[in-house]
Formats: sequence, C-alpha cells, structure tokens
Amino acid sequence: MHNKLLEKLNNLTVEEKIGQLVQLTGDFFEGDLDTVVTGPLKKLGLHPNYNVYNTGSILNVTDADKIIRLQTDYLEKSNHKIPLLFMADIIYGFRTIFPIPLAQTCSWNFEAIEQAASISARECYDEGIHVTFSPMVDVVRDPRWGRVMESPGEDTLLAKKYAESMVYGIQGQEAESIPTDKIAACVKHFAAYGAPIAGREYNAVDMSEHMLREYYLPGYQAAIDAGAKLVMTAFNTLNGIPATGNEWLNRDLLREEMKFDGVLISDYAAVEELIMHGYAENATEAAKLGLAAGIDIDMKTAVYANQLKNVISGNEHLEQLLNDAVYRVLKLKSDLGLFEDPFRGLKTRQEQATRILSDAHKKAAQSLAEESIVLLKNEKNLLPLSKQTKIALIGPYSEENSTLGMWAIKGDEADTVNLKTGLLKHMGAEQLSVCRGSYLIPDHAREALGKYVDKLPVETGSEEALLQEAIQNAKEADVVILALGESIYQSGEGGSRTNPTLPEPQLKLLRELKQLGKQLVVIVYSGRPLILTEVTEQSDALIQAWYPGTMGGDALANILYGVVNPSGKLAMTFPRSVGQIPVYYNELSTGRPDLPENGSYRFATRYIDEVNKPLYPFGYGKSYSTFDCSLVSVSREEMGTEESVDIEVSVSNTGKFDGKETIQLYMRDRFASVTRPVKMLTDFRQIFLQSGETGTVQFSIREEMLRFVGSHMKYQSEPGDFDVYIGTSSQDTPLTFSFSFHREEQL
Ligand code: GLC
Repeated sequence: MHNKLLEKLNNLTVEEKIGQLVQLTGDFFEGDLDTVVTGPLKKLGLHPNYNVYNTGSILNVTDADKIIRLQTDYLEKSNHKIPLLFMADIIYGFRTIFPIPLAQTCSWNFEAIEQAASISARECYDEGIHVTFSPMVDVVRDPRWGRVMESPGEDTLLAKKYAESMVYGIQGQEAESIPTDKIAACVKHFAAYGAPIAGREYNAVDMSEHMLREYYLPGYQAAIDAGAKLVMTAFNTLNGIPATGNEWLNRDLLREEMKFDGVLISDYAAVEELIMHGYAENATEAAKLGLAAGIDIDMKTAVYANQLKNVISGNEHLEQLLNDAVYRVLKLKSDLGLFEDPFRGLKTRQEQATRILSDAHKKAAQSLAEESIVLLKNEKNLLPLSKQTKIALIGPYSEENSTLGMWAIKGDEADTVNLKTGLLKHMGAEQLSVCRGSYLIPDHAREALGKYVDKLPVETGSEEALLQEAIQNAKEADVVILALGESIYQSGEGGSRTNPTLPEPQLKLLRELKQLGKQLVVIVYSGRPLILTEVTEQSDALIQAWYPGTMGGDALANILYGVVNPSGKLAMTFPRSVGQIPVYYNELSTGRPDLPENGSYRFATRYIDEVNKPLYPFGYGKSYSTFDCSLVSVSREEMGTEESVDIEVSVSNTGKFDGKETIQLYMRDRFASVTRPVKMLTDFRQIFLQSGETGTVQFSIREEMLRFVGSHMKYQSEPGDFDVYIGTSSQDTPLTFSFSFHREEQL
C-alpha cells in the first residue's frame, strides 16, 4: 500500500499536491466555472486559475445525493481521479441527536457513549460522510465559555474515557482501515481551547506546560491512542503562539511525543488567522508557518492554495514537508477505501438508508438522555410524580423542540419529542395545562445573538399576559413543572456569557409562581452549568436536563414519573456565583486551605463575600433511592511498584426504587515534587441494585494510577503516602483510608 501511495504522490504536480491540502465547501463545485470563479473563488480570494478539481476535501456537505453528484463530477473532471474526502461536524448525532457531550459525560456510562457514537457514525456512513470533526475533548473549568456544551467537562479521567469511547464508536478498533458503518474521527481542538482567559471565545490560553500536560493533554492522547485518524488545531494562542502555527505543539509534542501520525487539519480559516493573531506578517508567511507547524489541511482559506508553491520553491525541506502532508491525506483516503470505492457503497445503499432515525437509534438516544439528566434537588421526595397529579406545565421549554444544542447541524427539530409530548404519554390531557409563562430571553439578549435572532421563537402576547395565564394555571394545579433554560444560541461556539444564569424573564416567572405556595419542579435546559443558586432556593425539585436531544421529552417524562430512576452525576462543578469561576473539584490545597474547622478565619484561601464551596460539586447527582456504602476490605497499606491496593466496597440500595449508583474513588498524593490536587478522580464503578439489594464493587489501585507530571515534566509516580476517598460525589466521600507507596528498589 505504501508504495502505491508513493506512486500516486509522485505522479502529482506541485499544484495537484497543494490541492490535496485544500478544504473547500460544496458551493465551489456547483454551477459552471465562471460562476465559481466570480463567486466563491473570488470571495475566498483564491487565484482565478486555482483548479477546484485539485481540491482534496469538502467541508459540511452532508446529503447523500449531493455527495454522489459532487464526487462523480469531481472524478470525471479531476486529472488523477483521487477521490474527495467529505468531512462534517457531526458531533453528537446525525439525524438521531443524542444529548450534548457535557450531558453524555454526566451518565458516566462510556459503553453507552460509545454506542451513541457508533450510531452517529452509522448514520453518517449511510449518508456518505467520510470524516466527522468529533470528539471534542477540550477540558473546561469555566462555564462562561459557550463551547463547554460540547466538551466532556472539567475532569481529565472522564475526558480520557470520553475520547476513547467516541473514537472507538466512530471509527471502530481496526488498526489501519476503517470498516463498513464506520467513518474517520477527528479529535479537537489541539490544544487547550477550553481554557480561554475569562471564558471569552477564541481568547488567548496561557498556562504552564505542567498544567497543559497534567490536565489538558491526556484527553487528546487517549483519542490518539484509540486511533483517531485526524486532529484539528485550536483557534487560540497557547502561551503566546497560535496553536495552528505552533511547531513545538504540533511537531515536537503531537507528532514526536504523542505519536500522532494521522492528518492534522486546521480549524476553520485558522491558517489565515495567523495574520490576525499578529504571528504571520502576510499570507505567504502564514503558509510557511502553517506547513512548518505540520498543518496538513488548510480549512477554507486561500493561503495554501495561493502561496505554498512559491513558499516551497527551491526549498527541499519545505518540499519534503509538503510531500509528507500530501502522503498523510492520501493515506487517510486509502484507509477509508476510497481508492477502491469513492462512494463507500453509497450508490447501492441509497434506497436502503432506513437506519437513519430508526426506532433502535431513537431508543438508544432516549436511554442515554435518561442517564445524562441529573437530579439536583428533590425536597420531601416530591418526585417521582403520581399519575393522578394535576400538572401545570409552565415555561418557554414546555413544548419547545429546540433542545438539540448548537452542534446538531443535521438534527431536525421536528423530530424532537418535547416535554409536553413526553408528559402526555403518562397522563390524560385533562390533567395537564400548558402555557409559556414568560419570554425565552429578554430583547437585549436577542440582539446579542446576531444572525441567530431569526431562529428564536417569535414571542406573542405581552409578558404580563403570559404571567397572568401562568399564575391562573398554577393555581388550578397540584404541582407546577417549570421548564426553563437559556436559549441554545446562548451557548455553543461564540456563546460566551459573563453572567451565565437563567434569562431574567424566566427568573421573574419563577419568583412570581413561588409566591403561590405551590410545589415547584424546575427543569433547566442549558449548554453549561448555570448559576442556579436562587433557582435552587425557589425549587422543591430541580432537574438539570442540559440539551437532551431528539428524545429529550420522553426521557424527562420517564424520570418525572419514576419509570426511570435518575442516575446522572455532574461532570462539571456548578458555581454558587459567577465570581467563583473557575471553581473545580481537583484544586490544590494552597498553604492556607479553607478548612471547615477554621470557620471564617480570614487568612485562608477563601472569599469573604460568598459561601466557600460550589452550589453543586463535581460528581454530584441524586437518585430516588438512597445508597449506603461501606468499606469491606483493603488488601494492603504498603504498596510496591508491582503490587496493587485491592479494595472492596459494599453498596446497599436502602431506598424504595431500583436504581444505579456511581461509586467514585478519589485520591490525594500527600507530598510530591509538584503539589497534587486535594482530590483526583482515579476510578469509578457503576452498580445497579434493586430496592433492598446489596452488592459489591471492586477497585484496584496500581502504580500507573499514581503517576503525574513531575517537576521535570516527566510522567512518573513518586514514593509517598496517599489518601483514598470513596463515595458518591467529589464532596461526599465517607469511606477513607491511606496507604504508602514504595518503589521496589527502596525496600
Ligand atoms: C468551527 C469549529 C470546529 C468545527 C469547524 C468546521 O469553527 O471551531 O469545531 O469543526 O469550524 O465547521
């Protein structure tokens, strides 16, 4: 295979080689040459004599008929008949939309996440897509950043598991070729895009190499180890150098150290943005810096197409870099089997694409949504509801289909099961009143959404009329279900918020209804942890629904009526106030920790104007059941390199409902060459127990689980004492013990 690809490569002219590194959108291949030249070519700044039939890949064409048409036309007109790659943003579902990734990670069920990715890949395969720009594994500690919705949250271990599960689901686990029903995965955004200063979109990222290696890189590494065929560079600078032009990041670290040998694609226009960053003086410099930094594909700019020929001319090293880049693109096409069948069976499969949005796929989406939803509060066991209860369903999300999140580009909101529809599967219509109660967002927030304003629901009626109708309905009901949330357009890319709370009209509605003294079940739809401190105080029960995807209404109704016992656990801390941000569980002790026994002692790591803990901690989530845990056995208190500390924990379901609990094991390395967090999630087990049942879970702590990035950037374990904390959230770890780790040579 290698020789065949080299032969193809060597038959290409420089222009044809460069073309393979260019990614354009479908409009460059529609209509006659004149319209293309005067239209998209000119708009992008591509040289008029750029031959679109040298192009290597197409961005976000996601319709089978169009893919067939464009590929057929391309193969007819291109010189060497090297098939186009079709790449798209299918992040958490094609037509069957799963919960947003931040929600999925709250399930802590990585088998289910892998299955969801497998279903998404199958639907992409059926439609003819070759590559998806997923998984996004950027660790995020700041909920002001809008793209937290598409991340696995704040924890490195969960990010690693998410990354691996997604790549296996999308791509399969074969070494080289990508099998039937699978497509190529592209892990993103390399690197540390989730840590922009102040949570402001595209902002600079500035962190120590230690922080980068310890917390942010492992997620990408897990995706690479799982075989991800592509990596996408991040928009941001990392310590002053744009990721897309960063040779150390992309060659020394990604290629050499992390052993990535696939295709490195820039993010959208990021090569050209090297100029705006103030890193490249002009397009020629941008081309040179991009190639030198290892960018194989230039997404949607004219930089490579217009500049690379001159840049490499007479420079053997750069010419070799060009050849290496083109080879990797050809290798990806070969791994996808495109040289054998540029349509990957699409032509024969067209009429058979009945798997898209199939009942089986929807069932999987509903099940994952049920496991992703987090029960935050349930005073006096108000939930689950009885089927005889008269419900007033109030709020902008009562019958809202726009609950798919910002990266569901092929999702059709008409497919969505909304909350009202879900509830009516459990009760008669006479038991349920439904009204909007308030505007979704205030007018000033609408303007801020720019081009998305037209996608927002049109508000009819005055706010006062909406409120009066809600008050009337609430008075006539036994229980009020308040379906509230930020608009999906207030999160996602470009969705940074300085005050990530529920929109003001909805808070006003909540306060007014609270005056009625009715029991309030509040359901929050959001793409991030919102500041819910007041909402929590006003609610009797509180459910974090995230954006639950196509089957969200059925999933929520099943939880509200106890058909499903909620089991979600937060993958990200919920702050009490925006001033606490960033607040996360695996923080360092500091020399003056804010210890409970010190009360409000001033000279400690604390605020004087806020409760010094989050509203809801990482790993937290309630169930309708209660679970008791006890430590059954710990195999040893002294551990050598080749040994393990084996632990058994007994778990009892002491509640009335069958249910699943996630037993979390955290550790603290008491003293090390680099200070270690007060707690690091090291492992977890999920156990399903019937009411009254007792079971056990086992853990085994091995030397590799003690490793961290030491003071010389070496990933290693160090001898010393370790505290172990086991429980059902990062703050609720009643089972504790300690052990010492000694290297064999020390004994
Ligand atoms: C966007 C996103 C990236 C996406 C790409 C292609 O700006 O940053 O995640 O895959 O462009 O649409």
